[in-house]
Amino acid sequence: MSLIEGRTVLITGGASGIGRIMAAMVLEKGARKLILWDIDSSGLDAAVAELRGVHPEVHGITVDVARTEDVARASGEVWKSFGGVDILINNAGIVVGKYFHEHTHEDIDRTMTINTLAPMHIVLEFLPRMLHKGTGHIVNIASAAGMVANPRMSAYCASKWGVIGWSDSLRLEMERLSPGIKVTTVAPYYIDTGMFAGVKSLIPIIKPQVAARRILRGIERDRIFVRMPFIVNLLPFVRGILPLRLFDFVVGRALRVHSTMDEFTGKTAE
Ligand SMILES: NC(=O)c1ccc[n+]([C@@H]2O[C@H](COP(=O)([O-])OP(=O)(O)OC[C@H]3O[C@@H](n4cnc5c(N)ncnc54)[C@H](O)[C@@H]3O)[C@@H](O)[C@H]2O)c1
Repeated sequence: MSLIEGRTVLITGGASGIGRIMAAMVLEKGARKLILWDIDSSGLDAAVAELRGVHPEVHGITVDVARTEDVARASGEVWKSFGGVDILINNAGIVVGKYFHEHTHEDIDRTMTINTLAPMHIVLEFLPRMLHKGTGHIVNIASAAGMVANPRMSAYCASKWGVIGWSDSLRLEMERLSPGIKVTTVAPYYIDTGMFAGVKSLIPIIKPQVAARRILRGIERDRIFVRMPFIVNLLPFVRGILPLRLFDFVVGRALRVHSTMDEFTGKTAE
C-alpha cells in the first residue's frame, strides 16, 4: 500500500508544471482528498476540472503564497472544509533569470518571498496540528541551484539555498520532537516544464513526469533528500573536497553549467 493512499494532500503551485503532474499521480496512488493552491486561477480551474474527472475530491483555492494573509485565509479554508492535510508539498516557485544588477527590488522580494518565506509560513499554519497528531509529511521543493552558484540565478540560488537550510533543520527538529512527522527536501536539476525555457544544458534536462514520479517515490520511501539526476548527489561531496576555483572549472567549464542560462527566456516568451 502506498503511503499516499487515503491521505489528504495539498500541493502549492498545482496548476502547472510538476505540481500539476504530481496532482494527477497522487490521485492514481489513491489520495483521499487533493487540494491545489495556485495564483493562476484560470490554470487552477482547468486543472481541477480535469482532475475531478478522475476523482471527485479535488479542490482548488486561488492563493498568492507571497501574501501571508492569503496563506492564513486559505489554510483556514483547508482546516474548515477538509480537516487539515497529511501531506503538504511546497512546490510553488518563480525564477527571474537575470544578472543580479538587472533585478528590481520587487524581483528580489518576490523571489525570496515566494520561494523561501512562503513555504515557512505555510508550514507554520499546518505544523501545530501535525504535531498534535504526531504524523504528517512536509515536502519542500528546493533546487540543485540551492547547492551550486550559477550566473543569472543569484536571487533564485539564494532563495533555494534558504529552503534547503530551513527544510533540513525542520527535519532535525521533527526527528527530535515528533518522529512521526517526516520532512523531505527536493533538489532537482533543470526540469522541462517551461519555467526555465531557453536553457541549454550538457547534463540532460529532466522530463517533468520523471521528476514528479521521483518526488512521490521519495515521499513513499521517506527520503530525507531527493536529488536528481544522480550526479546532483555528488555535488555536496565534490564541492567540499575541491578548491573553489577547481570546482568552478569542473561545473562551470567542463559541465558547462555556468552558461546554461545564457539564452534563458522563461515562461513569458512561450
Ligand atoms: N523547472 C525546473 O527546471 C526546476 C528545477 C528545480 C526546481 N524547480 C522548482 O520546482 C517547483 C515547480 O516548478 P515548475 O518547473 O513546475 O514551474 P511552473 O512555473 O510550471 O510551476 C510553478 C507554479 O507555481 C505557481 N506560482 C507561482 N507564484 C505563485 C504564488 N505567488 N502563489 C501561488 N502559486 C504561485 C505558478 O502559477 C505555477 O503554477 C518550483 O519551486 C521550482 O523552483 C524547478
